[in-house]
Amino acid sequence: MEQYICKIANLDEMRLKWQSEIERNADDPNWSIWRDEALQNAQMGAWLPYYGILNGEIIAEATAVPNVLYMQNGKAISAEGTAYLFAFRTVEARQGMGWFGKLLRYMLSDLKARGIRHAVVGVEPSEIRNMQMYFHFGFTEYVGYGKDTYPDGQTIEVLYYRKQL
Ligand SMILES: CC(C)(COP(=O)(O)OP(=O)(O)OC[C@H]1O[C@@H](n2cnc3c(N)ncnc32)[C@H](O)[C@@H]1OP(=O)(O)O)[C@@H](O)C(=O)NCCC(=O)NCCS
Repeated sequence: MEQYICKIANLDEMRLKWQSEIERNADDPNWSIWRDEALQNAQMGAWLPYYGILNGEIIAEATAVPNVLYMQNGKAISAEGTAYLFAFRTVEARQGMGWFGKLLRYMLSDLKARGIRHAVVGVEPSEIRNMQMYFHFGFTEYVGYGKDTYPDGQTIEVLYYRKQL
């Protein structure tokens, strides 16, 4: 029998997962900077890292930032009761099997129980498949666009979509 646990990760689980992500992206210096940022924010309680753990192995993740700044018509909006969701990942060998969907549903219901009323996701205009997946999950209300800059200086365009919880 497979056992799949969805939970907010502790720091040991985060360190383990980040180690494997850094190894997987060994030639990309952004990942160790993202790890430091993620651990620091989780430690402060500013970010909530949700993990999906299958038979003891961390296979899926998604992070929520409650009460975020998000974009509306190109302007940053401070939104009480809105969470920004990002860093959606399922390990390659387990993709397409429904594990991320289970984790996202767990995350949305946990955020709702914490008083969050809206969730926002960001997607690059070229990421059609991810955009379709977000629509599938009900992130259908377009709320604006913005630019995101990676630690290495690369800038990307992001479209933001919202879902009511
Ligand atoms: C995106 C990603 C996290 C999805 O994880 P996954 O475990 O493969 O996803 P699942 O198998 O749980 O599918 C998620 C849901 O989206 C649906 N879906 C997937 N592709 C879809 C598409 N093109 N159109 C509509 N729905 C789609 C699935 O049917 C499933 O729905 P269900 O839960 O109602 O059955 C995974 O593919 C990944 O890690 N990709 C690389 C990183 C990435 O691009 N992340 C997103 C940007 S941060």
